[in-house]
Amino acid sequence: MKRYERFAAEISNLIRTGILAPGERVPSVRQASKAHGISPSTVFQAYYLLENQGLISARPRSGYFVRDNASRILDEPHVALQQQAPSDVAVSELVFSVLGSLRDNDTVPFGSAFPSPELFPLARLATSMTRGLRQLSSHAVISDMTTGHPDLCRQIAQRYMVNGMQLPTEELVITNGAMEALNLGLQCVTQPGDLVAIEAPAFYATLQVLERLKLRAVEIPVHPRDGIDLEVLENRLETLPIKACWFMSHLQNPLGASLSDARKAQLYALLCRHQLPMLEDDVYAELYFDQRAEVSPPQPVKALDVEGLVMHCGSFSKCLAPGYRVGWISAGRHTREISRLKLMTTISPSLPAQVALADYLQNGGYDRHLRKLRLALETQQTAMLAAIDRYFPEDTRVTHPHGGYFLWCELPEHIDSLALFQQALAHGISLAPGPIFSATQGFKHCIRLSYGHPWDAASERAMQTLGELLKAA
Ligand SMILES: Cc1ncc(COP(=O)(O)O)c(C=O)c1O
Repeated sequence: MKRYERFAAEISNLIRTGILAPGERVPSVRQASKAHGISPSTVFQAYYLLENQGLISARPRSGYFVRDNASRILDEPHVALQQQAPSDVAVSELVFSVLGSLRDNDTVPFGSAFPSPELFPLARLATSMTRGLRQLSSHAVISDMTTGHPDLCRQIAQRYMVNGMQLPTEELVITNGAMEALNLGLQCVTQPGDLVAIEAPAFYATLQVLERLKLRAVEIPVHPRDGIDLEVLENRLETLPIKACWFMSHLQNPLGASLSDARKAQLYALLCRHQLPMLEDDVYAELYFDQRAEVSPPQPVKALDVEGLVMHCGSFSKCLAPGYRVGWISAGRHTREISRLKLMTTISPSLPAQVALADYLQNGGYDRHLRKLRLALETQQTAMLAAIDRYFPEDTRVTHPHGGYFLWCELPEHIDSLALFQQALAHGISLAPGPIFSATQGFKHCIRLSYGHPWDAASERAMQTLGELLKAA
């Protein structure tokens, strides 16, 4: 991230947190340049960027001011509380048809599941790939076909350690992305026909995995800020023979909700009481916004897991190397069986991708990259929230996650998000419609928007178009 972008991010954070209120003057170019030790042209560049993001505007001969609607806190979405009976899942057709239409590179990628490739250190990773492969002995090309390259397992265990968790490398199975980890984990603890507790709304691939394994979904509502509703979960566990659960305790997709430490402890107590295995999908673990997590990075439920009930699944797809397809599962008491399932299905993860990541994690400046990535995402979130406020109907509700790169918008009730999805595509804009996140195809008037790409004039125009489509509906 360039100096002017860093400075712009600092100002946008002041606006977002209300320290700089609407109508207030931002520091003059001269003041800012002196106070921050940067050149006046760097300050100008930062202010142009903030102007483009709709956060400030220039007044002739007076300077720059925070725009009126730059920091209005839009209301949070409601929690969908209707209790649903356990249901079979049949969403794949819908999900495939939506995902199939997101592949066009020319669309504005608000429907994308990945951040922009511009935000990843791909050249540095390529260097690591070459170095890692050169260091492999010819023998290793065969002998290292295990369920995890030792160097990579060590690096992953070290990251857990920095986060305050002791995790033996023997508990790690490296997988083909988190998706394989989650598939193997669920397969290991269920039989066709079993009930599995999942979130509502849930990441659409969760629904597809349940569909593939012929499992039945028990949907538990998720609060847009506080996460899974533990009272409903407790009630469902007492009344239904649920065999496993699949939750995201941190930066849930699509809501961005995170459980507090107290609620994580409550959830873990429930797991222990019912001896219930839990898949903890934690692929956004590294994408918390630094400025708001001043203490230490959030810990997963896995950190409490003395009984080995939690299968913690992580990935490099969202924060470092999409397409390398490297994830992992730390599977507690299920490790041995999952290793065997891995060997029986795909034998071993790809060796080149593993050695590249092991070298990068050791030498590539991962933490520096993450700090830049988090700051970029946070700035982009501010820009998208401001655009929603500017262009969308007044009664739109939206999440304000403390990380990740998704916003969940609850639109006026009469909006059909599947129809909106088609109309938006016709204008070259992708988005993810609500029903793909539900076993029962609820959330018809909701959409998930990604702010994973750098904000530019095309993003701003696309938000304006979406707003016009919504107001005309
Ligand atoms: C919540 C969630 N879990 C798992 C995955 C899959 O991750 P991977 O690409 O590592 O398989 C994704 C990717 O979209 C995701 O959003």
